[in-house]
Amino acid sequence: MKTEIIKLSPKKPNEKLLKEISKQISDGNLVAFPTETVYGLGANALDDKAVKKIFTAKGRPTDNPLIVHIAKFSDLKALVEKIPAKAKKLTSKFWPGPLTIVLKKKKIIPDSVTCGLDTVAIRMPENKIALGLIKYSNCPIAAPSANSSGKPSPTTAHHVFEDLNGKIPAVIDGGKTKIGIESTVVDLSGETPILLRPGMIKLSLLKKILGDVIYEKSEKNSTAPVRSPGMKYTHYSPKAKVVLFKEKNFAANIQKFLKLHPNCAVLKTSKITNYPCKQTFIGNTHKQIAKNIFSTYRKMDKLGVDFILLEPISENEEFEGVKNRITKSAYKII
Ligand code: TXA
Ligand code: MG
Repeated sequence: MKTEIIKLSPKKPNEKLLKEISKQISDGNLVAFPTETVYGLGANALDDKAVKKIFTAKGRPTDNPLIVHIAKFSDLKALVEKIPAKAKKLTSKFWPGPLTIVLKKKKIIPDSVTCGLDTVAIRMPENKIALGLIKYSNCPIAAPSANSSGKPSPTTAHHVFEDLNGKIPAVIDGGKTKIGIESTVVDLSGETPILLRPGMIKLSLLKKILGDVIYEKSEKNSTAPVRSPGMKYTHYSPKAKVVLFKEKNFAANIQKFLKLHPNCAVLKTSKITNYPCKQTFIGNTHKQIAKNIFSTYRKMDKLGVDFILLEPISENEEFEGVKNRITKSAYKII
């Protein structure tokens, strides 16, 4: 299969072209497209056969459910059993945007989307290309991040092409994604809301809106039961081994590490450090780090380094999303 790259303006996508591409979705095929978080690999969420193609193309474990994307709030009613007041409250603040909510599903959602769970994850993206694609396909779109399973999530169409060339018919190129890490996932299907995957929305803000919110930081090798199936797999990992340095004397520890393993790249969160190896500043705000982390992982892999060393990430709560992705991609934390 030849993978076509179709360029569209994210600000004002060409409607005619977008309608044509949407036909692929209505016909049961896959299309990768930009959202404001990361690129997604989309299929008609109500078409079991089409959804299964996503798992094959990505090499995704079949017990890791997908997020269903909608274009307007009224699309929600047909997909979920009920819309709790907390869901209305939260979505009125963050939709369209980088928030996914989990609710009890209606039968119309095939088991392939939810991997047999009785709940479904739903998001209304903000990106105009994504919204147009959903609208013109005339169906909700199931879409995980458009990377090969386990690899860093794609933030450009080129990343998607690197991973999925020959496996999907088309990728829409809408430029670099604005945010860079995936949406915040909140389970609202039970009594107390549960933050399943941290993103750019702060826990304290969720608590302000929802009251009590449960959040268990899922440590990489934890044996605790997994609530969000996707969180148990190796994730976001480049080929090089990622080592996160947490200690106060990180600079000295990195220097020591480099003596043993000179073929490293250091991703810096501090502007003043300097190392005798490849290095790049990835930012010191959570927004900068989110925007850069996955694409920098991919860049460093191209340089063929053995290890990617990361300077410490701030303990401030807005960094929880990026810290979660980095911890999950890490081979070692020092
Ligand atoms: O920003 C995003 O969320 C991107 C863009 C494309 O929208 N999508 C994305 O999808 O990150 P994916 O498949 O890479 O991650 C979906 C996460 C997984 O951790 C999965 O386990 C969880 O959502 N999830 C999906 N359905 C669920 C459900 N019914 N209950 C609990 N967790 C669920
Ligand atoms: Mg993913």
